[in-house]
Amino acid sequence: MRKAVFIRNASQLVTLQGSSKAPLVKEAMSELGIIENGSVWIEEGIIKAVGKDEELVKEFASRMHEAEVVDASGKLVTPGLVDPHTHLVFAGSRENEFNMRLQGATYMEIMNAGGGIHATTRRTQSATHEELFQESYERLNQFLRHGVTTVEAKSGYGMEWDTELKQLEVAKQLNEQHVVDVVATFMGAHAVPKEYKQDPDEFVRLLVEEMIPTVAELGLAEFNDVFCEHGVFTPEQSRKILEEGKRYGLIPKIHADEIEPYEGAELAAEVGAISADHLLRASEKGMKAMADKGVVGVLLPGTAYFLMAESANGRKMIDLGVPVALSTDCNPGSSPTVSLPFIMNLGCLKMGMTPAEVISAATINAAHAINRGSEIGSLEVGKKGDITIFNVENYMKLQYSYGVNHTDTVVKNGQVVVKGGQFVEKLSLS
Ligand code: NIG
Ligand code: FE
Repeated sequence: MRKAVFIRNASQLVTLQGSSKAPLVKEAMSELGIIENGSVWIEEGIIKAVGKDEELVKEFASRMHEAEVVDASGKLVTPGLVDPHTHLVFAGSRENEFNMRLQGATYMEIMNAGGGIHATTRRTQSATHEELFQESYERLNQFLRHGVTTVEAKSGYGMEWDTELKQLEVAKQLNEQHVVDVVATFMGAHAVPKEYKQDPDEFVRLLVEEMIPTVAELGLAEFNDVFCEHGVFTPEQSRKILEEGKRYGLIPKIHADEIEPYEGAELAAEVGAISADHLLRASEKGMKAMADKGVVGVLLPGTAYFLMAESANGRKMIDLGVPVALSTDCNPGSSPTVSLPFIMNLGCLKMGMTPAEVISAATINAAHAINRGSEIGSLEVGKKGDITIFNVENYMKLQYSYGVNHTDTVVKNGQVVVKGGQFVEKLSLS
């Protein structure tokens, strides 16, 4: 039997209670449900009690000896962070393009010249399953060190079936073998391969008639994503890919209005996407449509920062009622980072969000963006024992003191896996 874990006496325990059913919007995004001197009892991987330390000490007095006690005094305790948008499984890096962009080349120019997504695709195609697994496993370790306990992972560096399959199989194996949970998204529509440049609709046909049905049949992904962008997939092509995916049970997501306004937000609302991501250039009409339909806006300010572009208008989206989540977009071209806490800092400084809002955006709203709102993202009885302890006294300091990894302890599935910033054991137990 697994030992119970008793986290005791946090200076602030962020519970976000009452948020499991629907993502938080507007003022509710600031209601963190903080308990001072708060404690949590976790057993068999599940949260059994949350409350004031003195209450829990009374309740569990006779069982104290059964538990691993974690002293959180002077520290901030939050739900394990959730990253709802990453391109986790890829090979290689692209620092050469970073250098080119610093000299004035644009992201799209590099991609259209055969670099960018195409460059990573070539590397990913030629990597073996084992190489891809090892590289991505390391990245997951780094996510965990930054307090992240669930990560969404997209395919999309295949552009042909064998590599798409390899990426999705690696994601599945990571989910099974790494303590961090990995939630898979099929993103065959990440770029149009060179061979189809003259006839992109033929590639769309291949996606909807062959790849999507096979992904669904093999149960390799829950979501279906498309890069709807001028020069990549048009709104019409994107609509078709997402609607066809729905017929096979794949929930739509969309890379929307990232580089140019393209009515991606409107399309997300129209097809009933669970989230629309990026939204740097989204229209007000699109934002309102998302708010009406409850589409989560997954904002990726690290991408804007790294591409030296203006960030999405997170403040406006929240004020209009869009449920906002935050993510790293971890990928080798536009956001090579695993630091969700740094993204939270950018949320405050670049998108006008408050320190409280960025906490809900990186926990419960992020969980809702990947259909996990009833299992993770808040500290409530019955939820998974996924908890992060930061070495700061309060939630504001987490964003204020930036560029530093404050992660002290991580409890995943009710087990202490990071302690004092270090892994406590080989991370092979899921
Ligand atoms: O979310 N926009 C498209 N896809 C990724 C970047 C992928 C890459 O450059 O390798 C993104 O920004
Ligand atoms: Fe992305």
